[in-house]
Amino acid sequence: MTRGDKGQAGAAVNILILGGGGREHALAWAIKQNPKTDRLIVAPGNAGIAMLAEVADLDVLDSTAVVAFCAENAVDFVIVGPEAPLAAGVADATRAAGILTFGPSAQAARLEASKAFTKEICDACKAPTAAYARFTSAAPARAYIHAQGAPIVVKADGLAAGKGVIVALTEAEALAAIDDMFGGEFGAAGAEVVIEEFMAGEEASFFILTDGVTALPFGTAQDHKRVGDGDTGPNTGGMGAYSPAPVLSQAIQDQAMAEIVLPTIAEMARRGRPYQGVLYAGLMIQDGKARLVEYNARFGDPEAQVLMMRLGAQALDVLLACAEGRLDQAQVNWADDHALTVVMAAKGYPAAYAKGSEIKGLDRLPEDSRHMAFHAGTLEKDGRILANGGRVLNITARGDTLAEARNRAYAMMDLLDWPEGFCRSDIGWRAL
Ligand code: AMP
Ligand code: GLY
Repeated sequence: MTRGDKGQAGAAVNILILGGGGREHALAWAIKQNPKTDRLIVAPGNAGIAMLAEVADLDVLDSTAVVAFCAENAVDFVIVGPEAPLAAGVADATRAAGILTFGPSAQAARLEASKAFTKEICDACKAPTAAYARFTSAAPARAYIHAQGAPIVVKADGLAAGKGVIVALTEAEALAAIDDMFGGEFGAAGAEVVIEEFMAGEEASFFILTDGVTALPFGTAQDHKRVGDGDTGPNTGGMGAYSPAPVLSQAIQDQAMAEIVLPTIAEMARRGRPYQGVLYAGLMIQDGKARLVEYNARFGDPEAQVLMMRLGAQALDVLLACAEGRLDQAQVNWADDHALTVVMAAKGYPAAYAKGSEIKGLDRLPEDSRHMAFHAGTLEKDGRILANGGRVLNITARGDTLAEARNRAYAMMDLLDWPEGFCRSDIGWRAL
């Protein structure tokens, strides 16, 4: 058999997932349930992932090392979790080596890696998004801010680990952001700056799988970016999420597909940069219409945790179909259910926090198709689980209603014994 027909033939597949956070734990958990999965390796993984898959110490940004690892371990299928290896061209390298790969090329992943590129694509395909201007020096950027007034949004063009967007409520804040960006605070990511119209409305995440031609809606979610209850305090990578997102009605999904997603996929193909993988569209919904906030070239974290909780084993079949270019034959069967995840973070996050505290009580938590404690930043040492990151655990549950999922997740939280951690107590409030 050739590598191109793995999923179709139903043969056993050796899988390598790149990444080591809660997103990758959730992907591994869902994929492990599929009988097609033979070997499942996650690099670098974490303590939770190590309980269900092999973990490997591999530099996931080193294309040569990843390709060599695949050859040594007879890997048939590579799934790239985070954006950094995509931007580094790892998916290009594995595909060039003949290994089936889920994830866009570096050229296609520019949709996440460059905000200015995304704006250019939106212009070309007339996708609704915030009005904007691009700058490579401070003086004209400052003049533009004076002319437009606040609120206004200032963005470093490149990847800045989620910190490169300043939603400025005053002109002074926007000007300070310009000084920071052109002052080098974001390194090369801030060499170009995009200044955008502030969009009011409700934000939600729409996930679409595409093989470059066919696009398959792959679920909706909403996350909570602020660290504190009531959506207060500084921005984080996400303190919790739930799926589905009620604000993304079928009508709005249809509009977003027709006006934003399909035109983007067609424009990428037209430019010779076909996009293959998951396209994560951050949307702002106001007055029954969606506009694009941003694209990501990967699953959201922690949005993937709630999507995988709902999808289970079928996730692998659809990811394989996507990588093999036969999404036109694939389908997703959604149950009429809800999932919710609460992030446990180390005290201090998103600012400085300590590593190494012990997390107790994990063995008391139920683990089944309705309850999972996904690990985001953990490490096992002498049989103990230690915190090893800012976001540490994703306590995830499923239910017939969102309230049921929420109650299950918080009931699990009560069984945890980790005084050095904290979580928000109101995940899902907007939808409940
Ligand atoms: P990003 O890194 O592009 O996800 O931006 C971070 C967050 O900033 C988004 O999730 C939005 O909440 C907010 N944001 C970005 N662009 C805009 C905009 N044009 N108007 C309002 N909020 C925005
Ligand atoms: N939770 C937001 C993200 O993954 O970008």
